[in-house]
Amino acid sequence: MRAWRIRPAKALQGRWTPSGDKSITHRAIILGALAEGTTEIDHFLESDDCLRTLRIAQALGVQAEPIDMHRWRITGLGKREPNEPSDVLDAGNSGTTTRLMAGVLASYPLFSVLTGDESLRRRPMRRIVEPLRQMGAQIDGRQEATRLPLAIRGTQLRALHYLTPVASAQVKSCILLAGLRASGVTEVTEPQLSRDHTERMLRAFGVELEEQFGTQGSHRVRLRGGQTLTACKLRVPGDFSSCAFMLAGALLLPGSDLVIEGVGVNPTRTGMIQALAQGGAHLEWEQVDEQGGEPMASLRVRAQPLKAMQIAGELIPSLVDEVPILAVMATQAHGTTEIRDAHELRVKESDRLATITEELRKMGAQIECLPDGLRIHGPTPLYGAPVQSHGDHRIAMALAIAGLVAQSGETLVQDVDCVATSFPDFEAVLHQLVEWR
Ligand code: S3P
Repeated sequence: MRAWRIRPAKALQGRWTPSGDKSITHRAIILGALAEGTTEIDHFLESDDCLRTLRIAQALGVQAEPIDMHRWRITGLGKREPNEPSDVLDAGNSGTTTRLMAGVLASYPLFSVLTGDESLRRRPMRRIVEPLRQMGAQIDGRQEATRLPLAIRGTQLRALHYLTPVASAQVKSCILLAGLRASGVTEVTEPQLSRDHTERMLRAFGVELEEQFGTQGSHRVRLRGGQTLTACKLRVPGDFSSCAFMLAGALLLPGSDLVIEGVGVNPTRTGMIQALAQGGAHLEWEQVDEQGGEPMASLRVRAQPLKAMQIAGELIPSLVDEVPILAVMATQAHGTTEIRDAHELRVKESDRLATITEELRKMGAQIECLPDGLRIHGPTPLYGAPVQSHGDHRIAMALAIAGLVAQSGETLVQDVDCVATSFPDFEAVLHQLVEWR
């Protein structure tokens, strides 16, 4: 298992374009795989998670080939029936692959088995099994079909009106993808708006859908089954969730001046910018563009003092993957930061509330783990220490940034291979941007 040795740094400097967004790359592969015709995807993220989705599409008989660096061509199934996969489908560490692909697999008359690594096999699957069963799919699996492996016997599905208890884009997308081939109108209502890349990309492929926002922040999407998806050309924006680590480093290290170009700024993903604004830190936006319904911008980040933040409620889904790095930032903010309503963090690649608390404490942070969040007292100097990623990419990267902003000492981040799931060139980018003390 590889480890990183991180020394305290002086600043983050330069210009950088983050690699493609993970969530959007998954969706581009899946919608490309279902569409009629050949889809071209530019700025494709070749991370372990996205390649899992690609291999499952290939197991269904979809043709996919690289054109050149980070560009792929996918010839979709269109009206063709997919192949029945001859082996178990392994989603590795990827919850998005599992939950979105389960929706697709359930909608065709074929048998498949989905599994994943040790972390993914611990994660809850009832949230997709229940609605897919209600639509008519037969699903069996471990622990009463709440855990992988899941055996799915797909069929011609019935449309469903579903109220999901969690604001989860993976659950919403699973049901919408299943609804694409169901008879009738499928409707998903979520308690708060989760990332809406599926909705935006379905429109880019020519699918009609309706959206409604409730007074309490709820969100409803409706989609008629049987619509044809038409192949298109897409450029995937830079991944805001990867950019968040560099952004945090630049805000915290005095003297930093970093320009991040071509980053996706879909408002359902950029809650961290709002949280930081609450803490008195403002980012400069240099220009804005739009690709396939996804807004993109260049951000300029300079070091700034930070005050404590109160993060809860409907802000949580828009920064759900940024909680570990926000916790690192909060250790350097003046006052007590509270993050609440973040129960979902307990069922990510690791129990992120527990793992970030345990590891940042080893570096001297004053952090408490709450049932649904974190309480962090700052500013507290951090000191280099041996720490563990718990096999979770976002914990590994958050700890690396903590190591850069530490007052002294070396941080040894253990078990960092997991970073390949979302940000394979994290280490190289860090070396490109860091100015050492
Ligand atoms: C994702 C949705 C989020 C997020 C995950 C990617 C997606 O999960 O944490 O990293 O691509 O749909 P939930 O929607 O289940 O919270």
